[in-house]
Amino acid sequence: MRIASRPLLACMMLSLATPPSVRAAGDMVLSKVMETQGRNMRLIAGGIAREDYGEVVMGAMAVIDPSHPPATLAEKFELMRFLGGKIGRFRALDRDTKERAAALVEAARTRDGEATIDAFQRLQTSCLACHAEFRKPFRDHFNRE
Ligand code: HEC
Repeated sequence: MRIASRPLLACMMLSLATPPSVRAAGDMVLSKVMETQGRNMRLIAGGIAREDYGEVVMGAMAVIDPSHPPATLAEKFELMRFLGGKIGRFRALDRDTKERAAALVEAARTRDGEATIDAFQRLQTSCLACHAEFRKPFRDHFNRE
């Protein structure tokens, strides 16, 4: 009985960690967050071009806390399984982006064009850093086009 229940438990845990709906849907919350981040960055770039620093501040604050629907427990499991031992690294890169977005908020509040552009560039570099490490593996893992 004890021997038989172990594979069953393993089976149950596996099915919990790999719900087919997450993979099949291909519209994970993380992907939606990223689309929002893309929009936020366009807002910031537009603000810089028009020297509308209020818009830059708004866009940078949205990068720090992008609006998104809550991730299901299934998706959280799936993401944790994908990240595995690299979860600390992923979180550090995410934190870096938020810190640089906060620096951009500060720069834009001074209405200093050059400082704002520098801070925007540093923010973009932090997006790139995570994409270089995680974008392709994410797409491969979740079978996205
Ligand atoms: C901690 C990691 C991480 C950070 C930081 C990060 N991204 Fe991403 N981003 C990803 C991953 C993983 C994907 C692949 C998701 C996918 O293919 O659906 C992605 C994909 C994207 C996409 C493509 C979305 C799609 O569906 O094609 C855009 C746009 C994007 N990110 C914008 C940004 C911007 C702008 C920033 C910085 C403000 C940023 N990201 C910061 C991890 C990150």
